Amino acid sequence: MRGRLVGRTAVVTGGAGGIGRAFARRLADEGAAVAVLDRADATGVVDEIEDAGGKVIALTCDLTDPGAVAAARDEVTARLEPARILVNNAGIYPHQPFDSLTFEDWRRVFSLNTDALFHTCQAFLPGMRSGGWGRIVNVTSNSVGLVVSGVTHYVASKMAAIGFTRALATEVAADGITVNAIAPSLVRTPTTEAGLPDAFEAVARMQAIKRSQVPEDLAGVLAFLVSDDAAFVTAQTLTADGVLVRS
Ligand SMILES: NC(=O)c1ccc[n+]([C@@H]2O[C@H](COP(=O)([O-])OP(=O)(O)OC[C@H]3O[C@@H](n4cnc5c(N)ncnc54)[C@H](O)[C@@H]3O)[C@@H](O)[C@H]2O)c1
Repeated sequence: MRGRLVGRTAVVTGGAGGIGRAFARRLADEGAAVAVLDRADATGVVDEIEDAGGKVIALTCDLTDPGAVAAARDEVTARLEPARILVNNAGIYPHQPFDSLTFEDWRRVFSLNTDALFHTCQAFLPGMRSGGWGRIVNVTSNSVGLVVSGVTHYVASKMAAIGFTRALATEVAADGITVNAIAPSLVRTPTTEAGLPDAFEAVARMQAIKRSQVPEDLAGVLAFLVSDDAAFVTAQTLTADGVLVRS
């Protein structure tokens, strides 16, 4: 165990799989008690963390439902303690050209990628404030800095998450709470491997670091942002994408 987060409780949304699973594992390895909030079964990550000697609970929660998020907050507080670390990782990224988008499709993406940040921060901020210490990290995407097609709803929702990060940071800094974002490149997760199997090679070629990004590449970035070492870092979006270059 690394131990930078001993005594802290951390919530990871979407921690059942993909990037969130690596986040949950790393936070537990740093000594945090971890609560995974996901609508999917999180038995796999719970077993991994417990086998490694960490502390973890999994709560089934639809993050688009504010009542479910508030209930999850109450359960985290009752079974662990008020969460001081909130990682808003859950997100969806369907590829749909604008002409084929319905308003329902648009709302579905925003209701998780953007609205859920409102629900979780409303639910967990009071506990951070009462403890005088908190860390919020929102997962956005390097696609906001590119010009990509077929994902207007996704890019708009992730750009909104960056605006939210910057604005919220100013309102909570006095309580010892930082709010930052992480922007990855295309990351190998079960979802991208199933949906974008041909994209990895092309994206790796565009990066200065010429290999596909894996969730573990982001876990150390998260561990830094939620540690005391990052106490003076707030309102930032840390792009960890191997840097895309024009050749
Ligand atoms: N994978 C990539 O290439 C990539 C690149 C840039 C940014 N991101 C962002 O990183 C984050 C994680 O991506 P990933 O590839 O690991 O995703 P993933 O699909 O592997 O995992 C997402 C998790 O969120 C959960 N989830 C989805 N809707 C939910 C809901 N309504 N309530 C509760 N849980 C819900 C899923 O069950 C799943 O466990 C997302 O925000 C995504 O936009 C991913």
